[in-house]
Amino acid sequence: MPVEVIQQMAVWRERLDACRREAAWSESAATGPSGGPVALTSHIGLVPTMGALHAGHMSLIRRAAGECGPAGRVAVTIYVNPLQFGAGEDLESYPRQLETDLERAEEAGAHLVFAPAVEDMWPDAPATTVAVSGLTADMEGERRPGHFDGVTTIVAKLLCLTGACWAYFGEKDYQQLAVVRRMVGDLGLPVELIGCPTVRDVDGLALSSRNAYLSAEERAVAPNLYYALLAGKRAIEDDGIDDPAGVEKVMAESLGRHAPFHLDYARVASPSDLTRPARIGSEVRLFMAARLGRTRLIDNVDANPPADDR
Ligand code: PAJ
Repeated sequence: MPVEVIQQMAVWRERLDACRREAAWSESAATGPSGGPVALTSHIGLVPTMGALHAGHMSLIRRAAGECGPAGRVAVTIYVNPLQFGAGEDLESYPRQLETDLERAEEAGAHLVFAPAVEDMWPDAPATTVAVSGLTADMEGERRPGHFDGVTTIVAKLLCLTGACWAYFGEKDYQQLAVVRRMVGDLGLPVELIGCPTVRDVDGLALSSRNAYLSAEERAVAPNLYYALLAGKRAIEDDGIDDPAGVEKVMAESLGRHAPFHLDYARVASPSDLTRPARIGSEVRLFMAARLGRTRLIDNVDANPPADDR
């Protein structure tokens, strides 16, 4: 079935309500071989994106399609959200390719796509901001003031318009995932959040819509960001370094060997609350952001200290 494209908020809300009713109806009608009921538990699987879909986005859509049950529906949103771009960032040049995106969304198993224009999303300019404190203070929050307020405001609106669902987010944007998780918990939104692993190119570069900005020369050195994270991971897992500053130095020095990069930050943080531990005694997340020409790249990996250190 071709993917159904919806542009208006009211239509999206109604359509998703109808999908939930249809799923409940088809489940109540289903009976097993013995005539007894079958547990099917279908869901709406929501994948919010800004479009320019690549294999990373498609992995989220595929996962939703695999998990949302036989009568479930996979809903993808495609909206380049101006609220999350700062002055001087790439809002104007951000890649927009709706036709290709629809083909990719459908190929990965999407049933519905919400692709509103800015005027559809905000008939009146928003006077409301949804802001999460604490988790947004460091890293992307510090480097991109207002960015997370823009993300949480739009994600809260998309979740409200969609209604009860399972929502799929990538670990590629790990801080975003943590911030959205906190928002959903604090506001009691009827959403089950599912974090999905980062999809990488064969050379290790994390897929990102912004990779399209890289020149051939920049693309060739770009995976060094990932290799610097892996150097930090090895320092913890193989060399037993348990001092966050020491690990951050290893990551920064590894990247520093590749001149075209300008490091924004290299950080060791707790995977749950993103605070920097005094000592690495349990699982941590390693984060880096760096600029390569006009492109800003971010990435992260997990790291586990050796068992006898725990
Ligand atoms: P966007 O950058 O389009 O990403 C949409 C979703 O795809 C996010 O959850 C992101 O983490 C995930 N994703 C991106 N690259 C990935 C990769 N290589 N592997 C796995 N998942 C990946 O993130 C946003 O849009 C926006 O901030 C949004 C949440 C839609 C709000 O506007």
